[in-house]
Amino acid sequence: MKRMNIGFLASHNGSNMQAIINACKTGVLQASPVVVISNNAGSGALARAKQEGILSYRFSSKTHPDPAELDLAILDAMLEHQVDIIVLAGYMKKIGPKTLSHFSSRILNIHPSLLPKFGGKGMYGSRVHQAVIASGEKESGVSIHIVDAEYDTGPVIAQARVPVESVDTPEVLASRILQCEHTFFAETLQKIVTGEIVLPGPRANVPKNAVSDTDP
Ligand code: GRF
Repeated sequence: MKRMNIGFLASHNGSNMQAIINACKTGVLQASPVVVISNNAGSGALARAKQEGILSYRFSSKTHPDPAELDLAILDAMLEHQVDIIVLAGYMKKIGPKTLSHFSSRILNIHPSLLPKFGGKGMYGSRVHQAVIASGEKESGVSIHIVDAEYDTGPVIAQARVPVESVDTPEVLASRILQCEHTFFAETLQKIVTGEIVLPGPRANVPKNAVSDTDP
């Protein structure tokens, strides 16, 4: 039976991507990782894809200087591998209009704060956690949201709360939040598979290529 096909976009370490791949392997997530695209030739994400035997591509402004061609290359790869849902796992670039339009409401990003707080351009990595601590927040967390043409502005579909301790450094808080991300992303994707979370848009919630293992 066909499972939900996931295509990844990732720029750096890819630990969230790895956690999702692991959840697919153990069956916690009824989905299949089918393709990995990174803009960064030296990324951990590409190394992990190779290790896992998942097809991968490096597409960037170096391989495709024209942004429209880069957008099309990403879209073509996702279509060629029959991707149902695109997962941004630490992807540092904006998504082009053709990919956004074809995968409308089917591109998800994970962000290490409780959006709309501490998101947007320039809010990535330890900057997020520095800002959270500097603001005296008592809690932070993880947001999973639908991707639009800007950074971190699309509708939030799931959030998990993580405490901020008074002694936290940005590194300690980042590590606590990353640990939460690793289970929360796969759990949220599984809720999409089962229909517990309904993505907006004209298509059925479980993307058109996918059928849950429990369907007759
Ligand atoms: C995560 O903190 C995620 O929230 C953010 O980028 C980081 C990616 O980490 N979007 P990794 O590459 O998955 O380890």
